[in-house]
Amino acid sequence: SAQLNTAAKAAGKVYFGTAVDNGDLSDSTYKTILAGGDFGQVTAANSMKWDATEPSRGTFTFTQGDAIASVASANGQVLRGHNCVWHNQLPSWVSNGGFSASTLQSIITTHCSTILTVISEIFNEDGSFRTSVFYNTLNSSFVTTALQAAKSADPNTKLYINDYNIEYTGAKATAVQNLVKALKSAGTPIDGVGVQSHFSVGGVPSSYQSVLSAFTSLGVEVAITELDIAMTLPSTAALLTQQGNDYKTVIAACTAVPKCIGVTVWDYTDKYSWIPSASPGKGAACPWDANYNKKPAYQGILNGFGAS
Ligand code: G3I
Repeated sequence: SAQLNTAAKAAGKVYFGTAVDNGDLSDSTYKTILAGGDFGQVTAANSMKWDATEPSRGTFTFTQGDAIASVASANGQVLRGHNCVWHNQLPSWVSNGGFSASTLQSIITTHCSTILTVISEIFNEDGSFRTSVFYNTLNSSFVTTALQAAKSADPNTKLYINDYNIEYTGAKATAVQNLVKALKSAGTPIDGVGVQSHFSVGGVPSSYQSVLSAFTSLGVEVAITELDIAMTLPSTAALLTQQGNDYKTVIAACTAVPKCIGVTVWDYTDKYSWIPSASPGKGAACPWDANYNKKPAYQGILNGFGAS
């Protein structure tokens, strides 16, 4: 049978990929599968976030992030940076620094021209801007500051806004569309929208494909950046079958939208999924189980790309 990245490319996509955390890399089975042809792209699950990369002001540490980057490079995989500006996993020198607007602006400029990545989770569910040290100090201008800094540091890197609960029609998806329109009309660099896609079995939104198309109709690409589909444990054959169908639905939506450029699962094995620790009693969200057996989800992904 085909492999996931091969199937993605045959469907006209740039990649199929996975999140990888540094701890995963000490597991030789994990590394073998990671390098085995199913994945053409990786995202660092944690080690390129602000707390990991600039733990004190002006002091950048890339050891952990570089470990992910060098595995990606050795495997010939595209690297997705994640992330430059996020309200979570911020070191306290940023969140509690009490900086003036101009100082915080320059802190963002330094950080985002050093960490070339995306802006994450800036909206509330009702489409208003999320409270954060960035918004509270700079209003929405921090978005432009971050994008311009990243662009001037590397004109060739794709710049994305990434969020969750924008996978269906509603106030939050509309807010992201309005932001993209505003950025484009102001000439601010923006290349794409990252649609996280943390779903539950049976819960893929019916408006998913039309929302992806609504983003691309604004002249940006979209990527599915953090796909997983959780279930209430224990898993059953019926749940795993439904999960396979759900993965197929998600992938088929990306396949059908020409400027949906790729799909990243938020780690490929249940062994290292973030779900059980964040949502006790839930899990089994990934295409491989904790013992590295492929689940029906694997076949669902292939079928969603039109492969078998
Ligand atoms: O590294 C420490 C370790 O030293 C300590 O012993 C352990 C004890 O709890 O914690 C470890 O840090 C954890 C870290 O993951 C690394 O495993 C943090 O507690 C934990 O909060 C952190 O969770 C990460 C989460 O973002 C933080 O919000 C998840 O791994 C990561 O998968 C998750 O990823 C996010 C995306 O970046 C953005 N979208 C949502 C997605 C899921 O929450």
